Amino acid sequence: MTREEQEKKHAEFLAAAERAEWKPKDITQRATVAEIFGRQAPLEVDFGSGDGSFILAMAARFPERNFLGTERMLGRVEKTCRGAARRGLSNVRVLRMESLYSAQWLLPVESASIVHIGFPDPWPKRHHHPRRLFQDEFMVALHQVVAPGGEVRIKTDDQPYFLWIEKVLDRAKGFERIEWVEEPDYPKTDFESHFLAQGLPIYRAKLRRL
Ligand SMILES: C[S@@+](CC[C@H](N)C(=O)[O-])C[C@H]1O[C@@H](n2cnc3c(N)ncnc32)[C@H](O)[C@@H]1O
Repeated sequence: MTREEQEKKHAEFLAAAERAEWKPKDITQRATVAEIFGRQAPLEVDFGSGDGSFILAMAARFPERNFLGTERMLGRVEKTCRGAARRGLSNVRVLRMESLYSAQWLLPVESASIVHIGFPDPWPKRHHHPRRLFQDEFMVALHQVVAPGGEVRIKTDDQPYFLWIEKVLDRAKGFERIEWVEEPDYPKTDFESHFLAQGLPIYRAKLRRL
C-alpha cells in the first residue's frame, strides 16, 4: 500500500469512528431513530455500555438492527467508536451521557425493542445507594423509552444490588417480569466474561414492557 493509500484509509477510519459517536445537536430535546442512525430500524439500547464489547458483538450479529450505547467515560466511548470503525459497523452509535438523563430527555419515546443493562455499578456503601442507576425514576424513564412489548434485560454479579433491583422492579408500573432462558452463544459483556471466568454467579432479570 502506498503512503497516500495508507493516509486515505486512516482518514476513512477516523471519519467512521467519529460517525459512531452520537453528539445530539440539542440536549434538551428527544431525537428520532432516523436522526441518530440515518435509517429506521429496530433499536436496542445498552445503558452503561463500557468498553463496548457487547454492543459491538451484537451489532455484528444483527446488522438489521440499530444499537445505541450510553456511557459516561470518554475513553470507553472512544474505544467503542474505534471498534465500530475497525469492524465496519454502521449500525452502532455511542452517546457520552448519563443514562438516566439520556432516557429522561434524549432517547426517542417508545423506540427501543430491547434495553440491555449489564453490570451496573453496585455502589455498595449505604450512603452511595442514591447513586445507583436502578431507582423508581429510572423505571419511569425506561417505560417512556421502551416500545410496548419490548424487553429490558438486566444482569449483575452483585447479589445485594440484585435484591435492591428486584424491589425496584416489583414497584415499577407498566412492566411484567418474564422468564429469561439465554442461548449459550449469546454475546457476553466484558464484566460478564470476567465474572464467569472466576466461576461467580450472574443474577439476571428480564421484563416485558406492557
Ligand atoms: C461495571 S461497568 C459494566 C460495563 C458493561 N455494561 C459490561 O457489562 O461489561 C459499568 C459501566 O457503566 C458506566 N456507567 C456507570 N454509571 C453510569 C451512568 N449513570 N450513565 C452512563 N454510564 C454509566 C461506567 O462508566 C461503566 O463503563
